Amino acid sequence: MSEKDPYAENPVIAWREGGIVAIDQTLLPDEVRLLRIDTVDDLVDAVVRLAVRGAPTLGAAGALGMALAAHQARRSGWSASRLKAEIGRIRDARPTAVNLRVGVEEVVPALADGPEAAERAAVAVVDRIAAANRRIGERGADFLVEACGRRPLRIHTHCNTGALACVEWGTGLGVIRSLHERGLLDQVIVDETRPLLQGSRLTCWELDLVGIDYRVVCDGAGPFALQQGLADAVVVGADRVAANGDVANKIGTYGLALAADRAGVPFVVAAPESTIDPATETGASIVVEHRAEEEVTHFRGMRVTPAGARALNYAFDVTPADLVSAVVTEDRVWTPRS
Ligand code: MRU
Repeated sequence: MSEKDPYAENPVIAWREGGIVAIDQTLLPDEVRLLRIDTVDDLVDAVVRLAVRGAPTLGAAGALGMALAAHQARRSGWSASRLKAEIGRIRDARPTAVNLRVGVEEVVPALADGPEAAERAAVAVVDRIAAANRRIGERGADFLVEACGRRPLRIHTHCNTGALACVEWGTGLGVIRSLHERGLLDQVIVDETRPLLQGSRLTCWELDLVGIDYRVVCDGAGPFALQQGLADAVVVGADRVAANGDVANKIGTYGLALAADRAGVPFVVAAPESTIDPATETGASIVVEHRAEEEVTHFRGMRVTPAGARALNYAFDVTPADLVSAVVTEDRVWTPRS
C-alpha cells in the first residue's frame, strides 16, 4: 500500500501527545480525517457514533481509554469512585464486542502505578492487537487453500474487518489480503452492510487501497449471490464468540451463514483469541446492541419511510455454532461443529 498509504500519517487509533488520535470512520470514504480524543466524553462519543469501531479497534480504544482516564483523573483531581465510574462508561459504551471490555480490563491493573504506567500498558495492548492480525490472515489463508478446491478464490464478506476495524491489516479482510499477497485471490463480494454501510464505505475503500477486485452487493443480494456460485467461501469477523462457538457479528451475518450452508461453501470466522469469551456460554446470553431507529428510517439525514414509522435496528445477530465451519484465530483453527 506504500504509495497511497493513508495510515502512514493517520493511524487507525494510537496514543499521541497525551491523548488518543483515531481516523474518524464516519467520514470515509470521502475524507481521511484524524480525530483528536482528549477526554473520556470524547472517547465515549467517538465509540457510540462509530467514528471508532470494529471489535479489535474497540479493544484498542478500551485500553487507550484507560490511559486517557488516568491522565484526566490527575488533571481534574477525580476521586477514586469518579475514576471507576468513568472507566465503566468506557467499558459499557457498546455492549456486544467483548474486545472493548477486554481492552479496558487489561490496563486497569496498571492504573495503580499512575497515568504513565497506564499509558505504557495500553500501548503494549494495542501493539498486541495489531500483531495478531497477520497471524490470523496467514492461518485463515492456509485453511481456505486446504478447504476450497478452486484457485484463485472468490470470497464473500460482510461489514468491515480490515485495518480500520483491527488497528492494522485486518482479520476477515486480513485473510483476504493474505490470499491476495499469495496470488490466490480472484474477487471479493462485499455486502454493503445496512444501515451504516461499513461494507460499501469502508471495506471497498480498503480494498481499493490494496488493489483487490471486488463487487459490492446490497445485503439482500448476498444469499442469492452465494446460491449463484459467486463465492468459494464466506469470511467474516466477530464481535463476540461464545464458549460453544456461537458468533455475534454485524446484522446480516446469520443470513449469509445460512446461505453458505445451503450453497455448500465454508463459513469462516476470523477473529483474535480476545474475541472468544469463555464467560459467555452460548449466543443466547450475548447482548445485541439496538441502535437508534433513525439509522434505519433515515438515510444521511433524509427520511426514507413514512413519517413516524418505527424501526427495529439490531446492530448484530448471532450465528449458531453449527453453521460455523471454522473460527480462525492467531493461535488456532477451531471447528466448533465437529
Ligand atoms: O458496528 P460495527 O461497525 O462496530 O460492527 C463491526 C462488525 O460487526 C465487525 O464485523 C466485527 O467487529 C469484526 S471486526 C474485525
